[in-house]
Amino acid sequence: MSRQRLSGCRYFGVDMCLAAHRTLASNCSRLDTHELLFDLAYAVWYDAKMTKPLSIRPCMLMGPGPSDVDPRVLAAMAKPTIGHLDPQFLGVLNDIREMLQAVFQTRNELTLAVSGTGSAGMEACVVNLIQPGDAMLVCINGVFGARMKDVAQRAGAKVTSIEMPWGQVFAPQQIQDAIGKHGPFKVVGIVHAETSTGAAQPIKEIAQIVKSSGALMLLDCVTSLGGMEVDIDGWGIDACYSGTQKCLSCPPGLSPVTFSPAAEKVLMARKTPVQSWYLDMTMVRKYWGTERLYHHTAPINMVFGLHEALRLVLEEGLKPRWERHLRVHKQLKSGLESMGVNYLADPAHQLPMLNAVAAPDGVDEAAVRKRLLDEHRIEIGGGLGAFKGRAWRIGLMGCSASEGHVQALLTAMKKLLH
Ligand SMILES: Cc1ncc(COP(=O)(O)O)c(C=O)c1O
Repeated sequence: MSRQRLSGCRYFGVDMCLAAHRTLASNCSRLDTHELLFDLAYAVWYDAKMTKPLSIRPCMLMGPGPSDVDPRVLAAMAKPTIGHLDPQFLGVLNDIREMLQAVFQTRNELTLAVSGTGSAGMEACVVNLIQPGDAMLVCINGVFGARMKDVAQRAGAKVTSIEMPWGQVFAPQQIQDAIGKHGPFKVVGIVHAETSTGAAQPIKEIAQIVKSSGALMLLDCVTSLGGMEVDIDGWGIDACYSGTQKCLSCPPGLSPVTFSPAAEKVLMARKTPVQSWYLDMTMVRKYWGTERLYHHTAPINMVFGLHEALRLVLEEGLKPRWERHLRVHKQLKSGLESMGVNYLADPAHQLPMLNAVAAPDGVDEAAVRKRLLDEHRIEIGGGLGAFKGRAWRIGLMGCSASEGHVQALLTAMKKLLH
């Protein structure tokens, strides 16, 4: 029996094998029905699985990410793959650095797209700034602050964490107190847009406090970048990471990061090698910089996609784009509240692009999400952690932040809830 046939046969249930066996037994005089049975099964499997191209039914992506992707981005990703050291491609990398600097509002030279999703960016920032034994403060008010703590502990940081209830944000004084009580810290990390709760953390004052304590300020902008104000230089942020699949409206796969000159100095003065070879910015920067030294093969077509996505952001303009996110958030909010669906995050600090709402009493939130997808082709997210089983997370990110999306969702929700 060939290996290929055996692997094909694994996909078959008993029923199909028995049916094939019966057919063979009645039509065939040979005794080696086993061999024939496998031949038949393999042929059916091959026909069912291998001769049909992938078929995907599209839907409106209105969950916590990924968001809908502009056709221009998909078209850019379908351009011919070229080499990662081809001068054309190196030009694309230069453009991306410049466009990312504009979107992050920074002059940081060390600005690039890490190969990997937002978590890779988180890990890249932490492992490049932290050496084993370094003290780090992590502020946790949802899933992604907790993830940052986990990443920092794995990198060998001595982590102090402070917590706020889900849906609430930190006051600057809390950071000041934590630094006074447990500091000094080398790095202080916080999430700007907590996707698990829908809360928007004000950053400016906190960054000033962190800076004047001598620590580096690390910011998670995975969900905020491209959908609300992010001002890296204006706020004094030392390291920041984002993701392509939220308000940049590109598929998941790259994580834009930026490091200030102060963070770069800390990186270059390390005594121990960066814990992760793949994410080691002392090496990756030599590919994105003028040396063009090979480190790992860049995900070429993903980079093409990000190039187009950033062009779209800058074509629209940062401010108009933030305003669009806010406008459609307000439309969604008034529509949902008129149906008795209420927001979970502190009213003074609600994110425009991530609307975390409580499922009304007696409503099976998972069943509603399933029907939205099955019957209306709209995807929204469920609650995580403390909100699991009782919340919906509705994303209005990038291309999905449109009046059409809001109307489609409200119409479907009305049908499902009444
Ligand atoms: C705030 C925040 N940080 C980090 C991440 C991790 O990003 P990814 O899932 O792309 O690895 C996410 C993902 O949803 C996020 O929302």
